[in-house]
Amino acid sequence: MLTLGIETSCDETSVAVTDCRNVLSNIVSSSVHLHKRYGGVVPEIASRFHVEYILEVLDKALGCSGKRLKDIKLIAVTNGPGLVGALLTGVSLAKSLSLSLQVPMIGVNHVLSHLYSAFLNDGTPGFPFIGLVVSGGHTALFYCRDGYKHKLLSQTLDDAVGEAFDKVAKILKLGYPGGPVVERSAKLSTNKDRVKLPKTFLGVHSLDFSFSGIKTAVLYYVRDIEKSSVLGPQSMDKELINDICCAFQETVLDELIGKAFLAAEMHKVKNIVVGGGVAANTRLREKFAYAAKFSGGIKVYFPQKSYCVDNAAMVGALGEELYKRGHRSDLSLSAEPNLEVVNA
Ligand code: KG4
Ligand code: ZN
Repeated sequence: MLTLGIETSCDETSVAVTDCRNVLSNIVSSSVHLHKRYGGVVPEIASRFHVEYILEVLDKALGCSGKRLKDIKLIAVTNGPGLVGALLTGVSLAKSLSLSLQVPMIGVNHVLSHLYSAFLNDGTPGFPFIGLVVSGGHTALFYCRDGYKHKLLSQTLDDAVGEAFDKVAKILKLGYPGGPVVERSAKLSTNKDRVKLPKTFLGVHSLDFSFSGIKTAVLYYVRDIEKSSVLGPQSMDKELINDICCAFQETVLDELIGKAFLAAEMHKVKNIVVGGGVAANTRLREKFAYAAKFSGGIKVYFPQKSYCVDNAAMVGALGEELYKRGHRSDLSLSAEPNLEVVNA
């Protein structure tokens, strides 16, 4: 079923044409370069960017797929959670296309679209699985069974893991977004045991996450080093920054992996699926693969890297699956900044 996916929840303006789980085109235009100097996404700038570029992105997505608007049979759009001004552009476009083309429309939850992005193209995770969403706004575990049904098991009690990467990069003055720069810096670490950071402990059987403690630990570590040296901020040399990034990354990735495997064990599930921007992290993929090797048969699935960060292909593909299962939206669909995942 030829579906037009639309994603504008944060700083990526994206439109895709999908058919079942196959991606015919997926155009992503990011406003990240405009946010860099502020060290985080500025909602007003993101919203204006969507308004300015969405039609161009739509034209490109249709052009690359070789399809025309009249071929589209379903419109799927992210209607939350996200920045309200940003979401509004996508939702308004979806409504006007649905009305003018007389095709049905479906609102898709952004967190759920990350959860199922590993199914795109030839991705074949088996049900049931434990779904781990690791993005800039969310960190959560789900139990997922056949038919795109899911139950929220746990989430972060404070910061999302991507947010922690972004904040640590800011403390270390590495730029924005933090994930890729922290990963690059950690890879260059020559003394992986030099910096010790505390691990979060929320109880042996707890599946919840917490990342604000480790972010604060990095802040204090840097402050103490700077205070104790006559060089002040100059005492933070490249090697030390690499070692801090390595310690931070290893600690948070261990927390994600430990909880995902614990959930799999508790729910007697043999598959784990990871989605969201942080799933692009190569070290996370390596560590998951290593843990899977010694797990007694648990398999771990990731989306292709281009489908980890925000994109409309995951919205189109999930929208079609939900539509086929009877989900519907109408023209009263609204942008919901705090939209929650409903257990199904
Ligand atoms: O899923 P996403 O594009 O947007 C949200 O829904 O939030 O995720 C963006 C987040 C940012 O926090 C970014 O720093 C993080 O994903 N990220 C990474 C990597 N690439 C992006 N985190 C760790 N390692 C990466 N390679
Ligand atoms: Zn996202």
